[in-house]
Amino acid sequence: MKGLKSDTEIINQIFEHIDLGTTDLGEEVWKEPVENYTSQKRFDEEISLLRRLPVAFAPSTALPDKGSYIARPVAGVPIIVVRDKSKKLRAFRNACRHRGKTLVEGEGKTSVFRCRYHGWAYGIDGSLQHIPHEAGFPDLDKGCHGLTPIHEVTEQGGLVYVCIEDPIDQGALGNMPQLIKDDQQIFDYTVSSQAFNWKLNIEATMEGYHIKPTHKETFYPYGYDNLNVVETFGRNSRITFPFRRIEDLRSTSEEKRDIAGKVTYVYSVFPNCNVAYLSNHISVQISEPISPTETQYFWYRLGKVSGVETEKDIERMKKDARFVSEIGLDEDFEVIAGIQEGLKSGGNTHFTYGLYEKAIAHFLKNLTDLIKR
Ligand code: FES
Ligand SMILES: [Fe+2]
Repeated sequence: MKGLKSDTEIINQIFEHIDLGTTDLGEEVWKEPVENYTSQKRFDEEISLLRRLPVAFAPSTALPDKGSYIARPVAGVPIIVVRDKSKKLRAFRNACRHRGKTLVEGEGKTSVFRCRYHGWAYGIDGSLQHIPHEAGFPDLDKGCHGLTPIHEVTEQGGLVYVCIEDPIDQGALGNMPQLIKDDQQIFDYTVSSQAFNWKLNIEATMEGYHIKPTHKETFYPYGYDNLNVVETFGRNSRITFPFRRIEDLRSTSEEKRDIAGKVTYVYSVFPNCNVAYLSNHISVQISEPISPTETQYFWYRLGKVSGVETEKDIERMKKDARFVSEIGLDEDFEVIAGIQEGLKSGGNTHFTYGLYEKAIAHFLKNLTDLIKR
């Protein structure tokens, strides 16, 4: 498996593309049948795959302390991820072992999960600790009625990954670099829904071919038309979007060049997460497919937060971050909604991904291969 280029190699590759008027190219044109964006059968296959792969769940720093938890569905399965007393992560199916009610929603910090219905209580290690009026359950073995764990929860490179069932593959893991360093803190978190297939927005983050027509007045004035470095590693990819200000580095010797602020790196964490290094912050977006035409987004924004910021400082960071990630990406959402609408027309039997869309071909090929297994 190939690794990623160094920052110096990326800068040189970009200068070469600027000088020659070129961009990175893939080796093949990919055709994807359009029913893969609308069919319930294909959707069910994808959900089943998402349950059998380690998938990104949240940045590690979203679960900072003993008792920190996040409860939300993953591939349609409601789960709770919680940091236990030894600071190890644990993950359970979010259902009481009495009559099955979900125990908790959203995120917070606790020492006990107490069911709202009849009050059964579970420790943060999942063990069943208390049954009110226990005499009513004469033969019940409490040791066998702890919360049901999912297959696995792991942390790697600053992200938490969960795997609901026995994995068929290591998915994104393997040679994933440290994507989020320890000095990064979450300063904004949003949950939203969009009326389109989950893969369409993943694809929009994987190519720069659309930057000029789609983002004419937002991203394009600072960037280039169809000029990217496209790398694939394992099942993942990284796209580099250079800013025009990268030209400032021409006069700096190679060893002294700092790439920060000169490019946007977008890592696609296979299959449903992307991590983007934007101006002054990192965006982590996780897609939860709801139906063939509906997707929920869990969206974290991180930066170097020192802890002495005022509410005003945090507001300014949120505003900056939302300018980049919402104004620009709203344009993507609008275009993508147009694709979902266009699918109803019957105008296409398949979509054609050209040589500029190499990372999308890589993504769809990996997805198809795994579904066929
Ligand atoms: S369903 Fe949870 S205590 Fe009854
Ligand atoms: Fe875009």
